[in-house]
Amino acid sequence: MITKCNNDYTAAAQWLKEGQLVAIPTETVYGLAANALDTNAVLKIYRTKERPLFNPLILHTNNLEKAKQLTNREGIEFLEKAMHFWPGPLTVLVPKSAMVHDLITAGSPLVAVRIPDHPLTLQLLDSLSFPLAAPSANRFGTISPTTAEHVLSQFSGVIPMVLDGGPCQVGVESTIIKQDNNGVVILRKGAVTASMLESHFDGRVTYPPTTDAADKPEAPGMLKSHYAPETPLFFGNLLQLLSSHQDKKAGVLGMQLPTLPDAVAHAVDISPTGDLKEAARNLFAALRELDNCGVDVILADNFPDYDLGMAINDRLQRASMR
Ligand code: TXA
Ligand code: MG
Repeated sequence: MITKCNNDYTAAAQWLKEGQLVAIPTETVYGLAANALDTNAVLKIYRTKERPLFNPLILHTNNLEKAKQLTNREGIEFLEKAMHFWPGPLTVLVPKSAMVHDLITAGSPLVAVRIPDHPLTLQLLDSLSFPLAAPSANRFGTISPTTAEHVLSQFSGVIPMVLDGGPCQVGVESTIIKQDNNGVVILRKGAVTASMLESHFDGRVTYPPTTDAADKPEAPGMLKSHYAPETPLFFGNLLQLLSSHQDKKAGVLGMQLPTLPDAVAHAVDISPTGDLKEAARNLFAALRELDNCGVDVILADNFPDYDLGMAINDRLQRASMR
């Protein structure tokens, strides 16, 4: 199969209507999309990603009316509140309607819903009569793609089309939230931060206990090892990491990097000005670059633990687990 890569969303719509997979751009990362109402197409996602069936998929739509069809009465209010951040990098868990197959939710009564913020994908979704199931367009456990080229590096010849919408503007996956009795629980950190949520949703904003998040598929996206490059990655205070890996050919990732020892073979400063948005946008491409430059280890510096820095630290922490 030859994989087309262009910005023709009508061609993408045609493939999707035929039950094929198309990689689509979003503001966060590229998604590997299928018609969410076609179980065979959805199965192709799991197979192509080599993703375990216990790990459920996010549904993407382009307006509140369509989103509401995916839930029942109990979920409507939460979706209406989420509209404040939509289109945007937020995914909400709501009780699923009968329209949503168990294969999408991996048997859970909750479904993940999001309206992504990318003009091409919004046009595509507007032209479709079905929602798109779309996990990140990478093989399970590897680094999420933020350009069409990243998608092609794994799926060229495997899927018929990548809808090329340019580099992703946010660069880390959406914030995932659910409701509980006390308020809002953040299951995955992203560009919609706790303080943004606090000012908009009633009640407290909390994180699930870390042991829960790390080991159990209850919050499946939070598997301990994730986003992993092939090269061993160490995450922490950069100066300490450098001193404990002096005998290794090291690649360095950080923000506003200091002058580094000559022994460092390759360094990527993902935001020389210390802008966390820029850092998030460049994070996954930098991990790929460091993974492909022939170093023995990748040393990743801690980011400031607020706003997008929290999402970046979360991804680097997972990338360091194996
Ligand atoms: O930014 C994003 O969210 C991107 C773009 C393409 O929209 N998508 C994405 O999908 O990151 P994925 O599949 O790589 O990560 C979604 C996470 C998974 O870890 C999954 O476990 C969790 O969301 N998830 C999906 N549906 C769920 C559900 N019903 N209950 C609990 N977790 C769910
Ligand atoms: Mg993913």
